[in-house]
Amino acid sequence: MHHFAYRDGSLHAEGVDLNRIAAEVGTPVYVYSSATIERHYKLFEQALKKAVPAGKAHVFYAMKANGNLGVLKTLGALGAGIDTVSEGEVRKALAAGIPPEKIVFSGVGKSEQELRFAVEAGIYQINIESESELDLLSKVSASLGKRQEAVFRVNPDIGAGGHAKITTGSSENKFGVSFEEVGRLYGRAANMPGVRIMGLAVHIGSQIREIDAFEAAYSKMVALVGALKGEGHRVERLDLGGGLGIPYDIPKSFDYGPGLIEAYAEMVGRVTKGLDVELGFEPGRLIVGNAGILLTRVLHLNPRPTKQFLIVDAAMNDLVRPAMYEAYHEIWPVAEPAIGAPDVAYDVVGPICESGDTFTTGRVLSALKQGDLIAFMTAGAYGASMSSTYNQRLLVAEVMVKGDQYAVTRPRQSYEELIGADRLPAWFG
Ligand code: LLP
Repeated sequence: MHHFAYRDGSLHAEGVDLNRIAAEVGTPVYVYSSATIERHYKLFEQALKKAVPAGKAHVFYAMKANGNLGVLKTLGALGAGIDTVSEGEVRKALAAGIPPEKIVFSGVGKSEQELRFAVEAGIYQINIESESELDLLSKVSASLGKRQEAVFRVNPDIGAGGHAKITTGSSENKFGVSFEEVGRLYGRAANMPGVRIMGLAVHIGSQIREIDAFEAAYSKMVALVGALKGEGHRVERLDLGGGLGIPYDIPKSFDYGPGLIEAYAEMVGRVTKGLDVELGFEPGRLIVGNAGILLTRVLHLNPRPTKQFLIVDAAMNDLVRPAMYEAYHEIWPVAEPAIGAPDVAYDVVGPICESGDTFTTGRVLSALKQGDLIAFMTAGAYGASMSSTYNQRLLVAEVMVKGDQYAVTRPRQSYEELIGADRLPAWFG
């Protein structure tokens, strides 16, 4: 369930009319519902609480899905930890007041500088993805007189996910060390001064709605934990990654319900039963996906003999998912369509100078006109966080709603900021 609904003929985010946000902040703009974020975080946490032994489940929200400070603060207040993938993300988690002992640092290509920053900050865990990174981490943290707690991210050779570009767990993908290597690496790490290996991590992909895929990967991990323990290695933590998918194609009245979340938690409880490890989770999309929309205005209608183009003021630089993954987003008009209003099939496109700047083709919507507002639904995850200034367009604004109030949590970039970020070479005088 989310908190975007029609009230008095117009779409609201919680208690705030989207017409008001568009008028006061302009478009395009992302609008987030804090109640929806809180709801999904709590659903996930409570499902885990029911399914695994008390105190054993630790949730690290994957900031890459949406790194807005307002979002991080909202989750931090609920006790969430954060999964990060760059120094920028570690810094932002700290800036949001997340304690370092609740920060995990993942990613295949951490630089020496990034590792140094994270170790100095005293973060909870670094997820090591290669032997080379193991060597570098030990060197860096030993030079700081520290011994960093870390886990090995293992590639389970089970790929899953909504699109080839977001599958990560296949051996064809760049992520993690192989099953065959991990015992040897454990052995090596035991003699390294700067690192203490605490266990394992796995993440197989994103937008996964089949519990079976997770179960296959997690079962392999549980077997590996047993084997490593049998060899005398310390395996106290098992980080199960993120990736649980959400419905993008929901009819307006549909209540998501906690079904998939509970099925996932139940499976985790069953597969890890008796393992006696701390379990980590890194959900991103599940927490923020349907807590956000991208609000945009119709700039022009361009009727052609064969189709009707609807040109809106948001573009692929603001929401790249349709162009990049052929992703589907529901489109809801802000003005509630009258019963019996005519339907039109639109190609909804942005102003950017390439044909890929297409949100959808042949989408049947109730007839729209210039100046109307529409919302791309389920845009809270990997929306603003993947936005850019392509075509010298301003970085999109972000707004957070709480009940009847809203706050601009990222003002739209100004042209001074956009152009002023460049530096002219001295030879231009
Ligand atoms: N942990 C790790 C190690 C990850 O690589 C990811 C996502 C997550 C957690 C969070 O996954 P989630 O729960 O959000 O599925 N930009 C793509 C999704 C890329 C996901 C990358 N890794 C999209 O818009 O669909």
